[in-house]
Formats: sequence, C-alpha cells, structure tokens
Amino acid sequence: MEQNNAFKLAFLHLFCFLFLVSCQLDSKFYDKSCPNLTRIVRYGVWSAIQNDTRMAASLLRLHFHDCFVNGCDGSILLDDTSTIKGEKNAQPNQNSVRGYEVIDAIKANLEKACPGVVSCADIVTLAARDAVSLAGGPFWDVPLGRRDGLTASESEANKMPSPVEPLDNITAKFTAKGLDLKDVVVLSGAHTIGFAQCFTFKQRLFDFGGSGKPDPALDSSLLQNLQTTCPNQGDSDTKLVPLDSVTINRFDNSYYQNLVNNSGLLQSDQALMTDNKAASMVINYSKYPYYFSKDFTVSMVKMANIGVLTGQSGEIRKNCRVVNN
Ligand code: HEM
Ligand SMILES: *[C@@H]1O[C@H](CO)[C@@H](O)[C@H](O)[C@H]1NC(C)=O
Ligand SMILES: *[C@@H]1O[C@H](CO)[C@@H](O)[C@H](O)[C@H]1NC(C)=O
Ligand SMILES: *[C@@H]1O[C@H](CO)[C@@H](O)[C@H](O)[C@H]1NC(C)=O
Ligand SMILES: *[C@@H]1O[C@H](CO)[C@@H](O)[C@H](O)[C@H]1NC(C)=O
Ligand SMILES: *[C@@H]1O[C@H](CO)[C@@H](O)[C@H](O)[C@H]1NC(C)=O
Repeated sequence: MEQNNAFKLAFLHLFCFLFLVSCQLDSKFYDKSCPNLTRIVRYGVWSAIQNDTRMAASLLRLHFHDCFVNGCDGSILLDDTSTIKGEKNAQPNQNSVRGYEVIDAIKANLEKACPGVVSCADIVTLAARDAVSLAGGPFWDVPLGRRDGLTASESEANKMPSPVEPLDNITAKFTAKGLDLKDVVVLSGAHTIGFAQCFTFKQRLFDFGGSGKPDPALDSSLLQNLQTTCPNQGDSDTKLVPLDSVTINRFDNSYYQNLVNNSGLLQSDQALMTDNKAASMVINYSKYPYYFSKDFTVSMVKMANIGVLTGQSGEIRKNCRVVNN
C-alpha cells in the first residue's frame, strides 16, 4: 500500500513534468531545485520581525489578501503599470497592507541562491507560515509549487471582507472561495496579532448604527480606552490600536477569550459571538489553545490552496512587483 502510493506520487510528478499539465502542490516541490529555500525565507522573516515586531502580523495578512483575490498567485505584489491596474491601491489595501519590501528582500536572496526558480506566491505563503511560528504560533508543512499570476484585479480587491459587514456576508465571501464558517472563525484568530486603524472600528464607539450610543457588545473599560485613543474626530482615523490588547504580539488564543469577554476590536470580530455555531467554536478555542493551533494550520493550508496556478500556468517572476520581467 505504502509502495503503491509512493509509486502513484512518483508517476504523478513524472506526468506533470512530461505533459506540463496542472499539478498538485507538494511540500517537497523545491527540495532539489532550491534546497535552502526554507532557510532563506525564515531568515528574511526573522530579520524583518527583529526590526519591526508588527511585521509578523503584516505578512500573515498579506497572504490572506493575496489568496482572496485571483487566488494565491502573488497578484497583490504587482505595482500599477499603464496596462495593469494593481491591487495595492484598492481601498482595503492602500495605506494598510504592509510587507512588500520584506518579500522583495527575500526574493532578491532567492534569486542569488536559485535564480528563476521560486514563485513570489510561494514566498508569500512560506513567509506567512514563518511569521505565525516566530510570533509563538503553530508550525506546519506548506505545500508548494504555486506559480505567479500574470494579472491583478483592483475591483476584486475592493470586494475583500469588510469589518463593517454582517457575519453572513463575510461567510458568503469565504464560501465563494471554497472555505466555510469554521474557516471564518479559525482564520479570524489571526487577529491575535497586529493592529487596526481607528477608522476600521470607530463606528462602534460613539453612535453605533445611529443609536446615539456605543455598540452594546463592547466591554465598557475597553470602550473607554478606545474613545480616548480614537476621539470622535477625523484626525484620529489612522491611529493604531492592537487587535488583541491582552497579548499584542503573541500568536495565542486570547483573541477568542477577548470575544467571550466582549473585547473584540472589530465589529466583524465580535460578530462571531452572534451566531450559535460560530460562538460555540469561539468558546472552544478560548478554552483549548491546542484545538485553535491545530485547526489554524488546517485552515491556513486550505486558504493557501485557493485558485493556485500550477504546471505551466502563470510564470515565475524575477521581480515580484512586475510581470514578464
Ligand atoms: C474575516 C474577515 C476579516 C476582516 C473583515 C478583516 C479585517 C481587518 C481589518 C479592518 C484590519 C485592520 C486594517 C487596518 O486598519 O489597516 C485587519 C488587520 C489584520 N488582519 Fe484581518 N480581517 C479578516 C480576516 C483576516 C484573515 C483571514 C487573516 C489571516 C489569516 C487576517 C489577518 C490580519 C492581520 C494579521 C491583521 C493585522 C495586520 C497588521 O498589523 O499589519 N485577517 N483585518
Ligand atoms: C545553502 O546554505 C548553506 C549555508 O549558508 C551553504 O553552505 C550552501 O552552499 C547552500 N547551498 C546551496 C545549494 O545554495
Ligand atoms: C525597519 O522598520 C521600519 C519601520 O518600523 C522601516 O521603516 C525600516 O525600513 C525597516 N528597516 C529594515 C532594514 O527593514
Ligand atoms: C450583505 O449582503 C446582502 C446580500 O448580498 C446585501 O444586500 C447587503 O448590502 C450586504 N450588507 C453589507 C453591509 O455589505
Ligand atoms: C475574560 O474574563 C475572564 C473572567 O472574567 C477572565 O478570567 C479573563 O482573564 C478575561 N480574559 C481576557 C482576555 O480579558
Ligand atoms: C473543539 O474543537 C475541536 C477541534 O476542532 C473538536 O474536535 C472538538 O469537538 C470541539 N469541542 C467542542 C465542545 O465543540
């Protein structure tokens, strides 16, 4: 049986190679062609985090925003040109998504070690994995072999899940990508690290839904702190607040404990407690960090499979910001 499977796998690879058809991702994809890949990526992520702790969160989010638009194809990395309108200036990304320079630096090192071999899409995926584990979260094997897209979509990027839309709408956007409600709950746990600008949750603080009052689902002492940091005036819009104020830079399960305590920062975070199924998962993860870690790795691999290009589709970029270079 073992041997039979090994034979099948070997045959599949030979088949992919000979006939250049689309293939499954494989965590050993670059073992021969770029043996130092994982070391080079991990070093690049580690040094970026040494310089700026928040970069762990930013790299994790970069991967999410890549995968939800045109699949995990590195499209978010493309700069605007006269022929391609990129995703960087879409509303959810502009002045918000970070980490492009970190990917550039890793790519430059990889081009020295194994030129023209590793896709930018795989670099983003590996960087997200390393960011999570370096922030104290779980580690998992990343299936590889994604290729880079030849185009980008600003309009799709503008349809990223928004922090002010209802849970049903967010879940529908995940379902459209082959994910489900459990993935929504599990992947939202990424908000255990990183920061949000005041404007992304300010609607909860002063006049929630035209009620003249704050969101009743926001803990009163957190509310006071947030009203101080984010006063009701435009010039506070871009101030930063930790998504998980208990353990700001640590990838743990306190995000879920916060939700149980009415201390979710975004409306979309706290909304997980308004659905019975989602709330029972939140409570489970708030008690059992092991289940969160385990389920997070599974959902990350699922997300990292969205719309991937393999075989001869797309290309391997040399510069992650430019196609056909
Ligand atoms: C479920 C729907 C989601 C919504 C509505 C949402 C929304 C947001 C918003 C509004 C911010 C703050 C951005 C800013 O202020 O500039 C943010 C930050 C962040 N998001 Fe999400 N997000 C969602 C899911 C995810 C997922 C699936 C991941 C990764 C698996 C993720 C990872 C992050 C991280 C790590 C940050 C902090 C980034 C940093 O500090 O640079 N989010 N998210
Ligand atoms: C991998 O990295 C090690 C240590 O930096 C180096 O000695 C070795 O030559 C590298 N191997 C390849 C194939 O680049
Ligand atoms: C270090 O982080 C700061 C932001 O905190 C950034 O401006 C700077 O470019 C980073 N330096 C390096 C070498 O990555
Ligand atoms: C949620 O989705 C419904 C149905 O697609 C739509 O009519 C509504 O405008 C959406 N709400 C928000 C706040 O995006
Ligand atoms: C949530 O509330 C419980 C019980 O009041 C407390 O033990 C726990 O520390 C709180 N967790 C957070 C993250 O505030
Ligand atoms: C908690 O989550 C784990 C992992 O998903 C699952 O096996 C277990 O059944 C859940 N427990 C409850 C009470 O929902």
